[in-house]
Amino acid sequence: MRSGIQHEYDYLSANVPLRATLEGRKLDAISTSAGRLYNLARETAGYERDFQAAGKSPADLKFFHDQITLLNHTTQELQDAALRRNLDRIGASFEVLAKTCNDCHTRLGVKMPEDDEEVKKEPARGRRK
Ligand code: HEC
Repeated sequence: MRSGIQHEYDYLSANVPLRATLEGRKLDAISTSAGRLYNLARETAGYERDFQAAGKSPADLKFFHDQITLLNHTTQELQDAALRRNLDRIGASFEVLAKTCNDCHTRLGVKMPEDDEEVKKEPARGRRK
């Protein structure tokens, strides 16, 4: 499932800001995408053991754990908001989601396999909307 997470994230960051176009099938697609991210977040959670083995500090491990919890929560929140057609909640939860991606990758120094620059820029753009 490599890069699935990037694919879903790119879809959301391209579509969530286009508020006027958010209805019907588009909202269903956003909900589906958020649901996929929720599943992918569980795969990411598995890295906690790697970080432990690599000797990350307890503070970093706690941070990782908390960010995973936030990722789980936020993807569910976004999925639910899209199902309920609540545009304000969609916008707000996507902002939190974008920040979560960025915060975890930055703090733990996790590199993106391809186009690091793209990924670093996009959450910032999402936040501004
Ligand atoms: C809790 C920390 C954390 C959060 C939050 C997080 N990531 Fe990651 N991410 C990781 C770790 C750890 C890896 C694995 C790195 C490795 O392969 O060594 C990873 C891998 C990736 C990869 C490369 C592997 C793949 O599956 O394609 C991408 C792209 C990625 N993350 C994007 C994102 C995006 C977009 C978000 C927000 C929706 C996000 N990440 C949220 C920690 C996180």
